[in-house]
Amino acid sequence: MSLIAWDDSLTVGINEIDEQHHKLVQLINGLHNHMLAGDASTIMNKVLDRIIEYTGFHFATEEQLMLENDYPDSIAHKQQHKELVDTAIELQEKLKSGNTHLTMETLHFLQDWLQHHILGSDKKLAKYLISKGVE
Ligand SMILES: [Fe+2]
Ligand SMILES: [Fe+2]
Repeated sequence: MSLIAWDDSLTVGINEIDEQHHKLVQLINGLHNHMLAGDASTIMNKVLDRIIEYTGFHFATEEQLMLENDYPDSIAHKQQHKELVDTAIELQEKLKSGNTHLTMETLHFLQDWLQHHILGSDKKLAKYLISKGVE
């Protein structure tokens, strides 16, 4: 079973953002599967690297759309992005130095963060972008 079920409740109505969110959900589910399978930490580190890289790409897409459309709440939204990136990089460094290992708690943190952020901040952003004619 997937950690995060992708369904319409997670779509925000802007294709590019929805596709990227779907991809992020798949990557996090993939990390969960590796953990359940008891795969080596080197494999999980690689998947986490990919998640961090893709998250950076996704945040840049949203932040560019905010800039282009004068989004009034961009500072708070960007701050949320920064907090997640900082936390993920901290975790990545700990994993690489062998100080910790990937746990269900970590995965639940990623899951919670993504779902809350999409359902709250990203939906709010999308509503604004749609009102500006972005599809
Ligand atoms: Fe966002
Ligand atoms: Fe997002």
